[in-house]
Amino acid sequence: MERTFIAIKPDGVQRKLIGEIIRRFEAKGFTLVGLKMMSVPRELAEKHYEVHQEKAFFPGLVKFITSGPLVAMVWEGDGVVSSARKIIGATNPLTAEPGTIRGDFGVSVGRNLIHGSDAIETAAKEISLWFTPEELVNWDSAM
Ligand code: CMP
Repeated sequence: MERTFIAIKPDGVQRKLIGEIIRRFEAKGFTLVGLKMMSVPRELAEKHYEVHQEKAFFPGLVKFITSGPLVAMVWEGDGVVSSARKIIGATNPLTAEPGTIRGDFGVSVGRNLIHGSDAIETAAKEISLWFTPEELVNWDSAM
């Protein structure tokens, strides 16, 4: 079954949007199989965003992601990677469509509330970076 990595960033936690964000994924019909609230070590933030390491915003991005608690999650379901990206909305909340998480709650690209894996291969890499296999729960949401 397809899985994706979703993180509620420190601004989403600080804005008290954890419940609202989880509600949207549950309402859609996806299954939560991993969940933890954590302070992010600098090395983990740098590894997670390593494709952006040459970008001017990289130091600020790492500083921000490590600035407060984050909620790391793994969601499961058919087509969950691309569907989650639609639920989340465009990277820049100012251009994200209303009805998406970023479109409804954000105004800043550097404070865009939530991260979602951009492809199935990226999702597998990010899930193994953030979670051990023992931290993921296999359960049948149709039972
Ligand atoms: P995310 O989906 O987590 O993936 C990369 C992140 O880099 C992105 O969300 C933004 O939060 C951040 N980002 C992208 N562009 C900029 C920018 N111009 N300034 C600051 N942060 C950015």
